Amino acid sequence: MKVAFASGISLFLQLQNFVGAQSGNFDLKGDVTSWTKGEARLSSSRSFLGAASAGEYALFVGGVDSDGNRSDSADMFNINDYGLLKSKISEARSEMGSGSFMNGRYAVFAGGKINDTALSRRIDIYDSELHAWILLEMSSARASPQLIDLGGILAIYGGAILEPPFISRTIDYLDSNLRLTTTQDRVSGYPFVGISAGNTALSSGIVLGGYTNSNLGGDMILYGPSNQTLFFKKNGNVVELEALDPVPSPRLGMQGAFSFDSLVYAGGHTIANDGYTLVPSNKISTFNSRRNFHTDLQITLSEPRTYIYSGAFQRFVLFWGGGSSKILEIFDSTNLGLVANVPQAFNLTISRDVAGTTVAKECIMFVGGGQVWSTGKPTDSVEIIRGC
Ligand SMILES: *[C@@H]1O[C@H](CO)[C@@H](O)[C@H](O)[C@H]1NC(C)=O
Ligand SMILES: *[C@@H]1O[C@H](CO)[C@@H](O)[C@H](O)[C@H]1NC(C)=O
Ligand SMILES: *[C@@H]1O[C@H](CO)[C@@H](O)[C@H](O)[C@H]1NC(C)=O
Ligand SMILES: *[C@@H]1O[C@H](CO)[C@@H](O)[C@H](O)[C@H]1NC(C)=O
Repeated sequence: MKVAFASGISLFLQLQNFVGAQSGNFDLKGDVTSWTKGEARLSSSRSFLGAASAGEYALFVGGVDSDGNRSDSADMFNINDYGLLKSKISEARSEMGSGSFMNGRYAVFAGGKINDTALSRRIDIYDSELHAWILLEMSSARASPQLIDLGGILAIYGGAILEPPFISRTIDYLDSNLRLTTTQDRVSGYPFVGISAGNTALSSGIVLGGYTNSNLGGDMILYGPSNQTLFFKKNGNVVELEALDPVPSPRLGMQGAFSFDSLVYAGGHTIANDGYTLVPSNKISTFNSRRNFHTDLQITLSEPRTYIYSGAFQRFVLFWGGGSSKILEIFDSTNLGLVANVPQAFNLTISRDVAGTTVAKECIMFVGGGQVWSTGKPTDSVEIIRGC
């Protein structure tokens, strides 16, 4: 019985590989003007949704619908023809941590909000080789944990919680056999929710910036921009944590993506001298993960922007929309400059907040759902930039 099952699986896999080999050409085009823009629709309008890619799919999962209810929809877009396959996760929720793992085999969706007073411990994992969902549980419930792929280990770091200090120090590690272990971050001065990236080639990862609660003892929340940098280094099956030099220009709502050895991040808000007015920024910064240093670049975005949808196509880092903005700006990490001739036709059609975003095959970027900037209502629009 067991043998028959195993051979059935391998036949299935061979078939999948055959189909995969036939379907797409994922060679990145160096000339940005030859890229194309596409559009698709979610099965329903949603904001605060999770997004990740696995195999031949870009997945948009959960979120808050137009009645304010949490969704359990998992919309799977075929990355070749943008066709929609509808599936479901195990529990309706929003604000999950999401990311890919094991060279794009798995799309992982961890934690989230069930409603305004309950958080989720669940991890829904889509396995693109077996075309099946796997359900696991984190050691504690939390919203928006950071998923950092260290190569063979996925760190599920921190996240927001409902009790003091309102930000979690818990880390759950998922290994290549999908086994979980748990530990605490005892290295960061304050717990924080930052932006993160993994370098699977170097078996390392980082979380930096974002926000922190600096009122650790109290019931009151004192959120501000975080200047912390936390480094993860995988050593065999053990992950070591280290606090590195602080972020030189901390800002809330900066976003970025990993290109070669650097996390390139841009925009966000600084806080004015009065201590609370948010000032949007056009700054572009990098963190080099091979030699561990921060740089604020001289070049800037063409306009100040926050919560920019970001993703990397190998040497290019895309900064698309964010808040009221629609523009696509592309950073080239080989010359540390912005690409000059990005067509305006690549602007987002709908500017939006709290959308989901994912990059498939290092050359197709999706931005889906979110709240339309001008109305505050959720949208079903998915916009796609294809560089291959
Ligand atoms: C959505 O929420 C409304 C109340 O806001 C409720 O009446 C309705 O039944 C919910 N719909 C579903 C499908 O749960
Ligand atoms: C929130 O979800 C929890 C867990 O499912 C449930 O027990 C609780 O009643 C919900 N609260 C509201 C306000 O819906
Ligand atoms: C980093 O932030 C902390 C407070 O969050 C502050 O005390 C410290 O001076 C900052 N360090 C630098 C180098 O800016
Ligand atoms: C593209 O977006 C930019 C900035 O958001 C705007 O100035 C420009 O007019 C837009 N162009 C088109 C064709 O939509």
